[in-house]
Formats: sequence, C-alpha cells, structure tokens
Amino acid sequence: VEFANHLGKLDESLENPDPLISAPDPQSETRMSNTLPKARDGFTSTFGVLAATLGSAVGLGNIWKFPYLTGENGGAGFLLVYVIATLLVGLPVMISEIMLGRQAKSDAVSGLIKLAPKGQPWWLIAAMGVTAAFLIMSFYSEVAAWVFAYIFKAASGEILSTDPAVTGAAFNSLITDPLQSLLWQWLVLALMGGILLMGVSKGIEAVTKRLMPVLFILLLVIGIRSLTLPGASEGLHFLFSPDFSKVTAGVVLTAMGLAFFKLSIGMGCMMTYGSYFRDDQHIPLTTVRVMCADLFVSMLAGIAIFPAVFAFGFEPTAGPSLLFITIPAVFASIPFGHLFMVLFFVLSAIAATGAMLSILEVPVSVLSERFHMSRRRATLINLLVLGAVGSTCALSNSTLADVQIAGKTFFDLFDFVSSNVLMPLGGIFLCLFVGWVWGFERMKTALTNGGELELPILKPLFFITRYVSPPLILIVMLKGLGLF
Ligand code: PFF
Repeated sequence: VEFANHLGKLDESLENPDPLISAPDPQSETRMSNTLPKARDGFTSTFGVLAATLGSAVGLGNIWKFPYLTGENGGAGFLLVYVIATLLVGLPVMISEIMLGRQAKSDAVSGLIKLAPKGQPWWLIAAMGVTAAFLIMSFYSEVAAWVFAYIFKAASGEILSTDPAVTGAAFNSLITDPLQSLLWQWLVLALMGGILLMGVSKGIEAVTKRLMPVLFILLLVIGIRSLTLPGASEGLHFLFSPDFSKVTAGVVLTAMGLAFFKLSIGMGCMMTYGSYFRDDQHIPLTTVRVMCADLFVSMLAGIAIFPAVFAFGFEPTAGPSLLFITIPAVFASIPFGHLFMVLFFVLSAIAATGAMLSILEVPVSVLSERFHMSRRRATLINLLVLGAVGSTCALSNSTLADVQIAGKTFFDLFDFVSSNVLMPLGGIFLCLFVGWVWGFERMKTALTNGGELELPILKPLFFITRYVSPPLILIVMLKGLGLF
C-alpha cells in the first residue's frame, strides 16, 4: 500500500512536473537517436530519474541474491547488518557518486579526469569500475539467462510442483547443460544489445516504468500466499529474529558487498546515471527514495520465499538455486499458479533487464564518449567481449565446473571479487576523493543545487563521507577477506 501511494505520488509528479524542472529539451529527441559520439542523452523528469535509478538498483539482486545470501548467512542477523551497511556506507557512496556524475556530465573515466586535480589518477576508480562491470555482467547475464529460460519452463508446466526433488532436478538439468546455458546467455546479451541500440528512455525505461508496479503486486500476492502456508511462521522467525552467533567477519563483508551490489555503487554505474540527472534534481532525496523502495522489494522477496522454504521443507542454505526451486513450489500451491509463475519470471526478466542495461551503460558510455566511438560500435564491442568472458560463467556448472581458482568457479569468483573487493574499493576511493579532494564547499554547492535547496544533513553527510565510510569499508573488507 505504501508503495502504491508512493507510485501514486510519482504519477502525480509525472503529470504535474516540478516547476523547478524546465520543460524537456526538444533537441534531446534528436540527440538520442543520432549516434554522434558526443551526443548526451539525459533524464527529463523527476519520475524519469527515479524510474531509471530504481531500475538499475532493483533487479536479480533483490529477487535472487538477497534471499539466497540471507538464507546462507543465518537470516535476520545478516539482514540487520545489511541494512546498517546500506545506511552507513551505501547512502554516502551513492550520493557522492551521483553528485560527481552530474557535475562532470560525461562517462565515468572522463568525469574523474575532468574533476580531479591535474595529474592525479583518480580515473583509475572508473577503470576499476569498468572491470567490475564486465565481471558482474558475466555472471548476471547467466542468472538472467536462467530466468528467461524459466519463463518457458513455467509456461510448459514442467516446474509446477511442490516437490523439491522435481523442481531441483529441473533446475539442475538446465544449469548443467553447457549448450542451453550458453545459448540462453547469448540470447540475453543479444537482447540487451538490441535495446541499448534502440535507446534506453524510449524502450526499456517506458516499459519498466509500467511493469515494475506489477512486479510489486505479484510479489505481494506470493508473499501473502507464502505467509498463509501451514508452517510459515518458521520462515518469518528466520527472517526477523536475529541470531548474532552466525554473524562473522565474512558475513559482515558479504552483507556490505550486497549493499554495494544492490545500490549499483562503487563501480561508476551511478556516476554514469548521475551524469544524466538534471541540474535541479534533488540528489539526496532521490537517493533515499531509491534506497527505501529497493529495500522494500528485497523484503517482499524475502517474505515471499522464506515462509515457503520452511513450509515445503526446502533448505534455506540452498545458495544460488534457492529462487529457482522454491518459487515454483509456492506457485504450484495457489490457484492460477501456473499463470502467475509465468508472469513472475517475465517480470523478473524485466527487472534484470533494467539492471543489466545500467551495468552495460558504464563501458558503453566510456567507449562512446571517451574513445569517440559510435554508440552502436561501442555496444557491439562490449557485447562481443562479454559473450567470450561471460561464457566462463555460463559453463561454470558444466564444462568448466572443475576449473577453480581459490576454490571458486568462474561464476562464484567473479561474483565474489566484484561485490567484495572491487566495489568496496571503488567506494573507499570515491569517498576519499569527495571527502579530501573535492571538499565540503564544492559538495555543498553541488548538492544544494547552487544554494537552491535546504540540506540540514549536509555536515553529517560530509563527516561520514570523509571520516567514517572509508576506514569502515576498509576494515570490513580486510577483516572479511581474512587479511588481518
Ligand atoms: N543493483 C542490481 C541488482 O541488485 O540486481 C545489480 C547491479 C546493477 C549491480 C548495476 C551493479 C550495477 F552497476
């Protein structure tokens, strides 16, 4: 209900655009469709900004990663650490990143070159971000591939069963088949390429804006069904009663990594999106809204999944397969479950699409703006590289299952390194840059839109960005990696 109200307000703001925000630039249409290297597209309304930013944040992270990590790491204790990480680290990093992006109005690498004092290599943060983008896309596109494949499995009725053995076997047969895994992944990548070429705002933004609310409603429906299953209370207990004995340094690092991954921060993605923000956009408010809505979706996913896990006798610690074996079981036990399940996977695919487009936008914008390539060429090159690098993740459960580095398959390694090393490192350096190089006065001017906005949180925010977040991230990271 809260979200529906929120959306209602957003719709109003769509119909009555903020007077502070000038009318959409008539030239932006032409700018969007041509492929001049320096053409800059941008978001045109408060709602557009929110939809795009939320579209990046909400994705498989909420529906797939959040539930399985919570399940693997002991439930409520993990959830609490995750929320704290989101507030203490996620918020300042996200605000800083969007602010720098809007200030620079260019791709992440050029942006940091532009903003940093001459000769200081802060652009390396963005270079690291591009690396992270490739690693994330490699495994993310594979999970998205499973989701797309599940649309068809759901439609055929193959996975409509409350028996873990049946749903588990269906999932296994998909992920251990090298050909299916590769083909679905390439199909997903090709689809993303097609959308990126068509332009983001007209295609995916317009679609996700309408369909995200449907995803919320569906999650609510499954949540309610899941809650009314016999034995559901055990699931709720698991999700909401913390047991701190399970919270180790490794768990804290995982929770912080999830906060970075969820908010798409520490790797230049929010900086790139920030560069499309309008100058009169309220950055801290947008950030807080995105954060709350994102958390709400994750909670809904948790409420949909955990009661069912316990009611049907699945294991909460199943890992990455959790979503693919429990969700079918919930649907199998409700009227019209067959139809709902197809819808659910279609919408998950859409959520994944919004996130993947934002990940790809990082390297695509760097190639097209920094290296003056046409958008078409930049997209094509990125997809070809991803088709190759990503195949290591597609084959991680079959042909390459035995190829392990530090005891991890490529899939697990890319996931681990991006969320637990590269994104936190990016976060540390972004905070250091804003706190020690950029400075309070510039931050004040940037965030108050040149003095237009009242921002009582400015001083504490700067303090946290300068003194709290960097050492905190560093300690969690080093301790979690077992380095001290
Ligand atoms: N935030 C997305 C999710 O939770 O699914 C994943 C993501 C998107 C990570 C964009 C990184 C990124 F740059």
